[in-house]
Amino acid sequence: MELRHSMRGAVKPYLATPHGILFQGDCIDLLSGLEPATVDTIFADPPFNLGKSYGDDINDSRPDREYLDWTNEWVAEAIRVLKPGGAFFFYNIPRYCIPVGQDLTERHGMQFRHWIAIMMKNTYPRGRGLYPAHYGLLYFTKGEPKTFTKLRAPIPTCRHCGQEIRDYGGHRDKLNPKGLNLTDFWEDTSPVRHRKFKKRPANELKPMIPERCILMSTAPHDLVVDPFGGGGSTYEVAETRHRRWMGVEIGDCLPIQERLDEAAIPLSKEIDKNLNPMEWVRLSEKLLHAACAYERPADEIGDAPLDGRPTRRAPKRANQPRLIESD
Ligand SMILES: C[S@@+](CC[C@H](N)C(=O)[O-])C[C@H]1O[C@@H](n2cnc3c(N)ncnc32)[C@H](O)[C@@H]1O
Repeated sequence: MELRHSMRGAVKPYLATPHGILFQGDCIDLLSGLEPATVDTIFADPPFNLGKSYGDDINDSRPDREYLDWTNEWVAEAIRVLKPGGAFFFYNIPRYCIPVGQDLTERHGMQFRHWIAIMMKNTYPRGRGLYPAHYGLLYFTKGEPKTFTKLRAPIPTCRHCGQEIRDYGGHRDKLNPKGLNLTDFWEDTSPVRHRKFKKRPANELKPMIPERCILMSTAPHDLVVDPFGGGGSTYEVAETRHRRWMGVEIGDCLPIQERLDEAAIPLSKEIDKNLNPMEWVRLSEKLLHAACAYERPADEIGDAPLDGRPTRRAPKRANQPRLIESD
């Protein structure tokens, strides 16, 4: 998972959209090319060091110390580029969430917000221990959060009969019709496993996970960075939710291109291959400034992308309940 050292160096633009850009290369090279206090939210779903296959040159089975040293290296860069009040989400197994969380607090002075437990189905028993049924999603901010939007999730129903699952102790009529307050226990986010909905062989997240993080911690046009592209779920969500985004993937970028394409997001591969991450940030801010002159209110920004071209709305993905931004 760390890199082929031969690949370390400049990251190269792979594709651009009205709101975002994807680079090919190593996440540490991308992050170290950004100035301090540039990014509003970082969502990171790195390989978990569980021996999965991410391509020939990525070793996903390393001694803990080596994995954590590498993690510390990219996390330090990520925290450096966050704006004050910006959010850092780190998705991993509890075994690694613990040391990384401690480092975030003690070394980086980050503010702990939540350990979100993401329920996992179909994991496998490992050795002499309990059956692992959740992963951790750490949510930290650089000081007081500058944006925190409370989210609501639809009232859960049975997927067979459509009836509501709980009776709320006779207080159903008191529930907010917009849905239930989102908690720190997410049981509706099991991974995309069906081949039909999967873009990559390993570890694609249900877009609902990055979507909640983005909606919670950013405003439209803020900048979201995901340093581990994978199948591109964060990028699709950021684009359709009108956040600027920057991504990087060390392996094959084609699945990300295909995902964005299927979501009817206008893609450009005609980009200056020498454009560096910081130049893109400045460019996107300028375009944003120009776009603001004619934009409608934030909840309608859908049709006013950064470059002024109309964006087609992405079709709703299968099994993807809508989220409601609350109150
Ligand atoms: C767990 S997957 C991310 C999946 C993604 N969140 C999604 O939902 O599609 C991790 C990805 O990080 C990539 N990766 C691993 N090391 C990397 C590095 N140093 N720089 C950039 N990408 C890296 C892997 O190739 C893999 O595609």
